[in-house]
Amino acid sequence: MKSEKLKPIKHIAFIMDGNGRWAKKRFLSRSMGHKAGVSRIKEIIMSCYDDYGIYCASLFTFSTENWNRPQDEIDTLFELLEEFFVKEIDFFNSRGVKIQVLGNLQDERIPSKTLNVIKEAVRKTENNDKNVFNVLFNYGSRFEIIKACKEIASSVKEGIISAEDIDNALFENHLYTKGLSSIDLLIRTSGEKRLSNCLLYQVAYAEFIFTKKFWPDFNKKELYRCLLEYSKRDRRFGAIKDGK
Ligand code: IPE
Ligand code: IPE
Ligand code: MG
Repeated sequence: MKSEKLKPIKHIAFIMDGNGRWAKKRFLSRSMGHKAGVSRIKEIIMSCYDDYGIYCASLFTFSTENWNRPQDEIDTLFELLEEFFVKEIDFFNSRGVKIQVLGNLQDERIPSKTLNVIKEAVRKTENNDKNVFNVLFNYGSRFEIIKACKEIASSVKEGIISAEDIDNALFENHLYTKGLSSIDLLIRTSGEKRLSNCLLYQVAYAEFIFTKKFWPDFNKKELYRCLLEYSKRDRRFGAIKDGK
């Protein structure tokens, strides 16, 4: 796969979607779909780093709205994510990848076993600086933005800053993605064309690709196809083409 002709990307995000429909198509349980989905993660994320020099990859794995699903599906998903961390943490660590878990980890509904595994992965890799892997877990963009507002409001109230000090940079420092650049490209699998509360602030100027492939079928070839499509996009950021 040639990366030379591709437009460089610093931060890519994925909404992994379609695990359930992938399974249904095969007369399998939704759990089998999630299992197949989770098994795709490592290859795709590593390909972003190794094949295309992307510094940061974010993956939406469980939303604040996914609590609306049946408890047994939630349990399965958590177990699969737990297994993923236990199995792959040393690998990611050996490759210099810093794992960050973005989301509300204070939520009491998260089983302590899952929480411990997640925290251990974050702790083990916190000093790595080659690449960043953001796992969005119990993540909701509205929650993140409101949390940032509350923190900023209390800094103003305590007199640490004044309301006039609030700007993009200050606001971004209160988001989970603090210190990372905005998202260049967001890919959602399964054909759904919506964001489902994913990184609303961070995608302000992102390019979007909605591929029909279900996440368990998303592979390196499809990733390349998406990056090629991204490379053909003209990102203007409000300016005009070539300054003319
Ligand atoms: C996985 O796909 C995404 C998660 C919420 C874990 P889905 O489980 O949403 O699959 P579909 O959309 O039902 O096919
Ligand atoms: C979004 O997918 C959440 C994750 C991928 C983790 P959903 O499948 O939950 O989104 P909706 O409900 O179709 O919008
Ligand atoms: Mg879905």
